[in-house]
Order: sequence, then C-alpha cells, then structure tokens
Amino acid sequence: MAAGSRIRFRGSTWSVAILGITFLGIQFIRPELKNMPATADLQVPPQVKQILKTSCYNCHSNETTLSWFDEPAPAYWQVVRDVREGRKHLNFSEIGKLPPGQQRGILFESMSQIELGAMPLPAYKRLHPESVVTPEQLMVLKSYLTPEARKEAATAGEIDAASAQYDKWIQSGDVTPNAASCPEWNRNSYPSTRIGKPSAARSGLTIRH
Ligand code: HEC
Repeated sequence: MAAGSRIRFRGSTWSVAILGITFLGIQFIRPELKNMPATADLQVPPQVKQILKTSCYNCHSNETTLSWFDEPAPAYWQVVRDVREGRKHLNFSEIGKLPPGQQRGILFESMSQIELGAMPLPAYKRLHPESVVTPEQLMVLKSYLTPEARKEAATAGEIDAASAQYDKWIQSGDVTPNAASCPEWNRNSYPSTRIGKPSAARSGLTIRH
C-alpha cells in the first residue's frame, strides 16, 4: 500500500518535471514577429481610430503589442500565426496607400465583420475582453461611415455659397452636357427653378446651342 502510493507519487513528479522541461524547451522556438514602421496609417477621426486600435491593431497593423500571456509558447505560436495572417489580409498601417474608395470598402467590410461577431477573432476576444467592440463603439464606426442625412436647415452662408455656384454654372452656359440637345430645357423654363432670384441674373442667362 505504502510502496504503491510512493510509486504513484514518483510517477506524477516525473510527469510534472517532463511537462516543465518541455514547456521551457519550447520557449526557444520563437518565430519572429517584427513591428515595421507605419508607412501609411489609416486617417480617420480619433474616436474611430481609438476603437480600431484597441480591437484590431494587434493583428491588423504594424503596431502589435502582446500581453504577457501571449508571450509563452505555445500561445505565442498561435499569436504569430494570427498576426501574420491578419496583416496579410488587412493592414491599417499601410491602408493609406490604397485609393480612398477602396479604403472605405475595407472599413465597411470591417464593420460587417464586427457585426457578425467574426472580428476580432473569437478565441482572441475570450483572452482579450477589452478588444470586444461594444454596441456603442459599433455605432461610432457606423455613423462615421454612413453619416445620416443632415436634418437641420442649411445656414444663410451655405445658401449664398450654393447660389453663387449656381449663378456661375448658369452664366458659363455649361449647365449640363445635354442641355443643348434637350429642347424643353430652354431659357424660359430653366430660371423658373430659381424662385425669388433677381431678374438681372435671368437676363444674363445663356445656354449654348
Ligand atoms: C487575433 C488577431 C485578429 C484581431 C484582433 C482581428 N483580426 Fe481581423 N483577421 C484576422 C485574421 C487571421 C484574418 C484572416 C483570416 C480570416 O478571415 O479569418 C482576419 C481577417 C479580417 C478581415 C477580412 C479581410 C479580407 O481581406 O478578407 C477583416 C475585414 C478584418 N479581419 C477586420 C478586423 C477588424 C475590424 C478587427 C477589429 C475589430 C479585427 N479584424 C481584429 C485576425 C484578427
């Protein structure tokens, strides 16, 4: 009985020792994870940037910062894989090189990945709860990408600026490329859209034929 428990004790000691040595051993296998300079970092308002920095930049930028628990292998190996793969798909530190339309497309895709719960990667979210994008943060991203149509009335200054632009277009005669070929669109019907404008502007109207 006593001998048996001693053997069991010895057995578990050995297992722990072997596990410990293996754990230490694998720490020497460290694939490199380099942070490069951010050459063309995403240009967005600070409140939008902050959200992406907190939740996405660890895998999708050249500014990866690892937590202490990401450092030991084998967790580290998974992190390196995720970061390399993540940067390959989307790198916010270099996104500025792309045309604005494409950048917007990527941000829309990002928004839907967050909405679907696919990003940040679920395993990462479990270990890094601060990376979860809250509904409020999602709203910030959404309202940046799809600002609601303005509800308030235009200001007097904006109306003046729009009128001045309008007069310039009319006076240059360059109303629309099709104006000349559209018989109904003549000098009589066109000014009628300008309610309350001085008639001097009307008399100056010329449309090329
Ligand atoms: C733990 C690392 C990690 C984090 C954090 C992370 N991602 Fe990803 N992301 C990846 C990996 C890996 C891929 C590529 C493989 C895949 O799609 O699962 C990817 C793919 C994507 C894609 C698809 C790109 C493409 O071209 O297919 C988008 C968009 C994306 N992530 C957005 C985000 C956003 C937005 C966040 C932050 C809210 C985020 N990710 C956080 C690792 C991460």
